[in-house]
Amino acid sequence: MDPKKRVGIEAALRVKDGMVVGLGTGSTTHHFIKSLAERLKEEELEVWGIPTSYQSYFLAVELGIPVTTLDEHRPDLAVDGADEVDPYLNLIKGGGAAHTREKIVDYAAKTFLVIVDESKLVEQLGEFPVPVEVLPGALTMVKERLGSMGGTPRLRMAHMKDGPVISDNNNFILDVQFDNIPHPVLLEKELNNIPGVLENGIFTGEVDEVLIGAVTQVRSLKP
Ligand code: A5P
Repeated sequence: MDPKKRVGIEAALRVKDGMVVGLGTGSTTHHFIKSLAERLKEEELEVWGIPTSYQSYFLAVELGIPVTTLDEHRPDLAVDGADEVDPYLNLIKGGGAAHTREKIVDYAAKTFLVIVDESKLVEQLGEFPVPVEVLPGALTMVKERLGSMGGTPRLRMAHMKDGPVISDNNNFILDVQFDNIPHPVLLEKELNNIPGVLENGIFTGEVDEVLIGAVTQVRSLKP
């Protein structure tokens, strides 16, 4: 079976009746959300989802998963993908430009479960450029600050639309390449200290478990 599908199905089995669940974004969580919707129907479970993007919101609505917000509920469990996972379970996320809402929902959850295939495991974060969501009016200033921190920022450009990607929150995304990221905990904070940065895609210290899908099995990593 496709590793992303296998791990998505496994994650859906972690959801219990009555739970509020953070619905991550991306191709791996797509399988999770589909499998969760099937369980809801077959087992008549009462579960509410808190989407992390328009993508997961539309999918949940299409599949009949009731949705709620952080104003009304706190997630018991959040299930989300990642672009890189290091041995300390630090992450880079935001390949789909959804990291800001993902971080809000994932960090709010009592349990944060990450689902990936083996290609996402790395020894050190940083081969994948760090997505940084930026208020449009601050773009030039933020790029300068990122450059002085040793990063090489690139404005993410859209497909099927001229010009830059506009996030679900109406902002730009800078993909920032660093030579290496020896201290992700510090870098996560430093990036968010730049005026005009809304949120960056480094996630540290919050993951409770990573499920890693392969063709024949799923294994688990815990901190
Ligand atoms: C969305 O912006 C990202 O954080 C995704 O969760 C991440 O890119 C993983 O996506 P895939 O499951 O599609 O690889």
